[in-house]
Order: sequence, then structure tokens, then C-alpha cells
Amino acid sequence: MSQPKGYVDPEYLRIMGDHLNHIKRRSYGLMQIQPGQKVLDLGCGPGTDTISLAPLVGVNGQVIGADYDETMIFEAEKHAKQAGVDTWVNHQCVDAMLLPFERDYFNSCRSERLFQHLSTPAQALSEMTRVTKSGGWVVVLDTDWGSLSIDSDETDIERRLARFLAEFSLNNGYSGRKLYRLFKQQNLADISFEVFPITTPNYTLARMGTQAEKVEQEALKAGVITREELNRWQAGLEQADIEDRYFCSVNLMLFAGRKN
Ligand SMILES: C[S@@+](CC[C@H](N)C(=O)[O-])C[C@H]1O[C@@H](n2cnc3c(N)ncnc32)[C@H](O)[C@@H]1O
Repeated sequence: MSQPKGYVDPEYLRIMGDHLNHIKRRSYGLMQIQPGQKVLDLGCGPGTDTISLAPLVGVNGQVIGADYDETMIFEAEKHAKQAGVDTWVNHQCVDAMLLPFERDYFNSCRSERLFQHLSTPAQALSEMTRVTKSGGWVVVLDTDWGSLSIDSDETDIERRLARFLAEFSLNNGYSGRKLYRLFKQQNLADISFEVFPITTPNYTLARMGTQAEKVEQEALKAGVITREELNRWQAGLEQADIEDRYFCSVNLMLFAGRKN
């Protein structure tokens, strides 16, 4: 079976998660979690965040991780068991578009880097809002791939590839900047937003984080760049890496709003 657009595997999420730990922590803080509460992590991947949320709700609370990918759920359940939190942290195979939870079930909900994959992100936020109790926090962290920026003399190729990534390699690549509008549409109160620049001079990490190999091949196939341009582009970046002057950045956006 072919993989969905923008698919990343559990290993990618583990490596990137290590680099995003400070932002993840900030998102947990915005949920204002108290011991004994029930919380949801939507699009939970291999359970990086559900396991971190476990001590915040404690053994009398409940953490549910939801993801539509069976492999992610399998990994998440394995990690919860290894961490010894599986009695109050569990993971379910669920589509973000239709959550099998009652209205007002959770004290707070979060979602990280899920919305960039969704064709109808408003539906997912509506579902998150529905299952959150009145007064509870809905927290979404996502990327604005329109802010991807790689230092290169080949600015035209760089812009074409960045635009291709945002508009064709993902269903909702400009997700971060659209969250304010979505939060307003859901009538969420006390909306806050923060922008986190992710910067790296590490060429290997940046190529992995931006799924560069896959995006470049897709762009080549789509006729967005020629083979000659791709060779020039890659040679320029490799030279920058050799000379220790490679630089890449992209913004993550963190929104929180309270259900009325
Ligand atoms: C970039 S990963 C982020 C995973 C995790 N939130 C993290 O920060 O490590 C996006 C996740 O969203 C899941 N996903 C994508 N579309 C989904 C949908 N419609 N319903 C549920 N999960 C979905 C993917 O399977 C993947 O695990």
C-alpha cells in the first residue's frame, strides 16, 4: 500500500522529537494539566508525548494517544509498557476527523505536527473542541513550511523547492499560519500564539527534517526543477556543508485556546 503524503516513520519522529523537546514542554504547560485529569494527544505518533504527559496526570489520570497509523499505535503501546505507564496511558487507532469520544470527555487536548497532513484541519479542530470540557485548553503545534529557508546562491531553486514542499508534498503545508483563523472559527477563548524558529547548521539533520531527498525527487518528477538544476542545487549545499557554512530554518507555531 502506498504511504500517505508526507509520511514519516517512528525513527524520524524520535530524532526530531529530541530537537523539539523545549517546544513540546511548552505545549504541555499550556494544557494546564492537574493530577487526575484526562488528556488527549491527537496524531500521537509513536507515543513520545503521551509518555511525557503520564507523570503530569499521574496514576489516577488518563492519557489517550490517537493516531490512524497502526504501526505508530503499536510502537506507542510498546513504549508505554516499557515506561511502566500503560495502566493509565493507552493508544487507539483513530481518524482525527471522527473521534470516538464523548463530548466534554477530556480536560485538555493537544496535537503536534498533525494538522500539516490534513486536507480538512478545521474538522480535526472541531472534533478536539467537541471532546474537550468547557473551560479546558485545546493546544495545537504545527509547522509553517512557508517559512522554510535554506541559505544558497540558488535562491530561485530554493524557493521553488520550498514552495513544492509546502504545497504538494503535504496536504496543509502552511498549517502553522492558518491556526489563528481555525481557533477563531471554533470560538475558542483567550487564544495565545507563539512562534518557535527551528534553526540548524547541521546539513544531515536538515535534509532529514525536511525530507529533502523525497521532496527533490518528487519535484523533479513533477517538472518543478530539471535534473541539471537539482545537481547544481545539491552540489552547492554539499559545498556549503564541507565549508561548514550550511544554514536552514523553519518556524513552528504553537496555539492555545480555551473552550467556552
Ligand atoms: C509528523 S507526525 C507527528 C507525531 C507526533 N505528534 C509527534 O510529535 O511526534 C504526524 C502523525 O499524524 C498521524 N496522522 C496523520 N493523519 C491523521 C489522521 N487523519 N488521523 C489520525 N492521525 C493522523 C500520522 O500517522 C503521524 O503519526
